Amino acid sequence: MAQWWIDELAHAGAEHLDPGYVAGYDRKSGVDPSQDVERLVRHGLDADATVIELGAGTGALTLALAPICRRVIAVDVSPAMIAALRDRVAERGHHNVKVVEAGFLSYEHTERPVDFVVSRNALHHLPDFWKGIALQRVATLLRPGGILRLRDLVFDFEPCEVDERIDAWIADAVDDPAVGWTASELAEHVRTEFSTYSWLLEAMLTRTGFEILDREFARAAYGAYTCRRG
Ligand SMILES: C[S@@+](CC[C@H](N)C(=O)[O-])C[C@H]1O[C@@H](n2cnc3c(N)ncnc32)[C@H](O)[C@@H]1O
Repeated sequence: MAQWWIDELAHAGAEHLDPGYVAGYDRKSGVDPSQDVERLVRHGLDADATVIELGAGTGALTLALAPICRRVIAVDVSPAMIAALRDRVAERGHHNVKVVEAGFLSYEHTERPVDFVVSRNALHHLPDFWKGIALQRVATLLRPGGILRLRDLVFDFEPCEVDERIDAWIADAVDDPAVGWTASELAEHVRTEFSTYSWLLEAMLTRTGFEILDREFARAAYGAYTCRRG
């Protein structure tokens, strides 16, 4: 590994390495994977498809995909998330899910390129330079024409709007950290994590060989993209 290579675990968010936080993660995040599943099916996901999920966390999306596709490879850099995900996969008896402890920048794919790559709310852990490298690596995981479904905290506004938009986003936060993200957690996210502007992320996607097929945003901060590898 080159001496300038980033330590992904050091950027993964200390909370994601904490088994106590991981145990409460599903309640806090309230992930509903149905919209992503619907979008993937619309783009051809079927019983023959192989999917890689990067930054799978406790696996809400992986577990929703496993019954409807051939195989899911669920990747996460956090040992605590991986342990929870392995338990859940075993509990549900999904024999077509492979769980891999690795990151966007370290996952080694030794099989043929896959049909779909998905990632939810994980890419923002990497600074932009590294997001570019991560997306380049994602492109090599996909077969030509393969689909990337990417969801993340992305800021869909201009730098001159930052004060107003970030304040409005934080004002909508919940009070109870068990069921969502509080104002102080969102402020910490802005200060210490690497959510980028949509117009930078979109340039990175295009530059790494993706065509953006659709994009949706909620509260100018929660972005979802469906992209096709050229
Ligand atoms: C906010 S959680 C999202 C988990 C899940 N995708 C979801 O939607 O609920 C972020 C996840 O990204 C993982 N993560 C952080 N940096 C990563 C990296 N460089 N490569 C892979 N996973 C990473 C964390 O361990 C954590 O599980």
